[in-house]
Amino acid sequence: MNKWGIVDIENKQLAMANTTVKLILMAFLFCAASVAARRARLYPTGSSAGTGGICKSLVVTQGYACQEHTVTTKDGYILGLQRIPASRSGQSAYKPPVLLQHGLMMDAVTWLMNPPAESLAFILADAGYDVWLSNSRGTNSSLQHTSLSPSDPAYWEWSWDELVAYDMPAVLQHVRSLTGQNMHYVGHSLGTLIALAAFSHKELVNMLRSAVLLSPIAYMNQVPSPLARSAAQIFLAEDIYWLGLHQLNPKGDAVNKLLKDICNIPGNDCSNLMSGFTGQNCCLNSSRSDVFLDHEPQSTATKNMIHLAQMIRTGTIAKFDYGNQDDNMNHYGQPTPPVYNMTSIPNDLPLYLSYGGKDLLADPADVKVLLGCFKDHDGDKLVIQYREDYAHADFVFGINADQVIYEPVMAFFRLH
Ligand SMILES: *[C@@H]1O[C@H](CO)[C@@H](O)[C@H](O)[C@H]1NC(C)=O
Ligand SMILES: *[C@@H]1O[C@H](CO)[C@@H](O)[C@H](O)[C@H]1NC(C)=O
Ligand SMILES: *[C@@H]1O[C@H](CO)[C@@H](O)[C@H](O)[C@H]1NC(C)=O
Repeated sequence: MNKWGIVDIENKQLAMANTTVKLILMAFLFCAASVAARRARLYPTGSSAGTGGICKSLVVTQGYACQEHTVTTKDGYILGLQRIPASRSGQSAYKPPVLLQHGLMMDAVTWLMNPPAESLAFILADAGYDVWLSNSRGTNSSLQHTSLSPSDPAYWEWSWDELVAYDMPAVLQHVRSLTGQNMHYVGHSLGTLIALAAFSHKELVNMLRSAVLLSPIAYMNQVPSPLARSAAQIFLAEDIYWLGLHQLNPKGDAVNKLLKDICNIPGNDCSNLMSGFTGQNCCLNSSRSDVFLDHEPQSTATKNMIHLAQMIRTGTIAKFDYGNQDDNMNHYGQPTPPVYNMTSIPNDLPLYLSYGGKDLLADPADVKVLLGCFKDHDGDKLVIQYREDYAHADFVFGINADQVIYEPVMAFFRLH
């Protein structure tokens, strides 16, 4: 069976026969896809998902203590967080808290999927850190809301602007107030974009010790992934259709249609969807793809995808564009969406940026534009790592990421 999203879309019979093509669509982040109705699992939309899942299924089973937490955002979303407060041997954390923030269509499982010796969350816990895992609104651990249900269109009325404005402050404040300490932050992919946008706010930066940005996406003007660019075009050309969907469930019909449209565009090679979106990952363990597909991909808001598509089109980092001056005026009090100012991140915030030569989403040309924003950053507070053979998913799932990425990241933590 297909591993890591290798799906032969040209074989239409196969695609049709599998009513549930599990695909990880999209994009900007990490995508894989696959098949097989036998593994089909519908999202527990509106169900009791929310507490208990990840700790119980992926952390306690590896012999680690784990706590499930919830925190409510100012706009009413109830987010699930997991905390690993001790090493496997049972020694309580004696180093500062570290908050791990996943990317698009992923959740905290990102950091737990490989065996403990290869998964960042377990490696940090064993090294003495107090590990916190966040789950963005709309993912399996964070489907609850004080008044809305995921079956209400209004529940999905958000883009990453709201992850910056509401999820990030709620999670940082929760960790800060429970531990009484400032934390290190590690983000992957979309988890880097929301950090870059949020950390221009002093009250958030004041809760940090450092920020590690793996596979940083910010400027996306030059994204070379033909599949991601096609997806962006389709979202923008048919935004009325897409906005009518509200929730983008990667296992649903709409995403199937989107993929078919993408793959029908001449020149698009859909023989390996994951590589087509993320770049050719060097170092994934194909025997882990079942674990991946048990938990991922996760739903997101369609509006979030359209927002990202706007960034691919414009190359700017700005708030969601409502498409006309009147609507923008209503939302922002100005005719165009406000721009996020990347250069207002404090120059003395310790920053570690790591990017890969094979990454088609955080592609080196765009990352270089981002690096230009840090030219005045304090020299001893900035580490830039370039890894020639890495693509988007290697940073979190690579079987050698413990040595390539996590060791130097922990050395960086020790300095700050
Ligand atoms: C969602 O969470 C529930 C428990 O909270 C769990 O049983 C289910 O397997 C999870 N689904 C996915 C796709 O992770
Ligand atoms: C790949 O995953 C399988 C299944 O979990 C595991 O047995 C194997 O040791 C892994 N290989 C590497 C190189 O990590
Ligand atoms: C961005 O922030 C920097 C530093 O605070 C400031 O000098 C610059 O003028 C700002 N740029 C814009 C476009 O607001």
